[in-house]
Amino acid sequence: FFIDWDLSMAERGGYPHFMLKEIHEQGGVCRSTLKGRISGGSVDLSGELSMDEHTMISFRAVHLIACGTSYYASLIAERIFERWTDLDVKVDIASEYRYRDSKITPDTLVVFVSQSGETADTLAAQRKARACGAYCLAVTNVQGSTLARCCDDVLLLKAGPEIGVAATKTFMGQITALYLLAMYIAKVRGTFPIERESELIDELLQIPYKIETVLEREHLIEELASKFAFSQNFLYLGRGISFPVALEGALKLKEISYIHAEAYAAGEMKHGPIALIDPNVPVVVVAPKDSLYEKTLSNIQEAKARHAPIIAVGFDGDERLASDADHVLCVPPTLEEFSPFVTVVPLQLFAYHVAKKRGCEIDKPRNLAKSVTVE
Ligand code: G6P
Repeated sequence: FFIDWDLSMAERGGYPHFMLKEIHEQGGVCRSTLKGRISGGSVDLSGELSMDEHTMISFRAVHLIACGTSYYASLIAERIFERWTDLDVKVDIASEYRYRDSKITPDTLVVFVSQSGETADTLAAQRKARACGAYCLAVTNVQGSTLARCCDDVLLLKAGPEIGVAATKTFMGQITALYLLAMYIAKVRGTFPIERESELIDELLQIPYKIETVLEREHLIEELASKFAFSQNFLYLGRGISFPVALEGALKLKEISYIHAEAYAAGEMKHGPIALIDPNVPVVVVAPKDSLYEKTLSNIQEAKARHAPIIAVGFDGDERLASDADHVLCVPPTLEEFSPFVTVVPLQLFAYHVAKKRGCEIDKPRNLAKSVTVE
């Protein structure tokens, strides 16, 4: 009698790598992070945040500070805070913020986004904000972490432990928590588009199912990954809320497959990266049908004219994208605000399968640590 799996395989729930297991947990992570935080068709965080209405109304600015993947989640949140609140929004990398002369005042809400809550630069940035008298909020996956203990308030993601060094499900938990936070603060400040509340909340509650639909299409992404596994350079493009998704997609590819991947805001392509485009540089374009879609399509045309293979991530049934791109990874359509939840998933799976085809050490990529506790 022969059993061809061992204890570590069991820990991975039958998946060959923790990263793949964690990618597949993302519908559940989004669902658990939403759970108990929406009541009566509205976001309510009053039971867990200690900031009261008066404090939320007194804020003038919000700063979102983080490193790595958490920084990209913050870039998405930046756009959401801009859309729903009247606050001055700023996002920065912790290792920059701590040394800059940003105006941090007692009416600034500083949100520190850190999966582990132990990243040295993020902790140092928090000490600086604290010294300036700002209101500090931790968005973290680890309740008793140093960051959680040092902040005035904590909003937890409910992602469960993440073992793969390359963050996936915690990114999903972070964006879920940050959307809830932006909605809640906007609602309290009276800036939330109340006429769209039920549409937005209903759609947010559908997001976990849409993530799961993308995961069911893994075999198509795997097939595509085998076509491109030995390319040496990739360019990732996106506009608006899809720009941080392009950044995160490129980061995943770099981290685990060691392929050089650069991400640019699509409109910046003509200011430099276009010089790199040739038939050997696949261009991955995040192109959901949103208000910037036409602009993104024109960037696809520019890359195509230089014979780059185009891999697009777009919505189901998008015929134009299907005819313009060489390959399309389709995701279920959603509202413009929520597209990162679905568009990031094929990029994580693409990076995973490229790395697997190249025989890389996926869960523990060279030179990287899960938590960077040194400066
Ligand atoms: C390391 C990890 C990344 C992570 C970053 C920030 O570089 O390898 O996956 O995004 O740290 O970590 P944090 O725990 O602060 O979110």
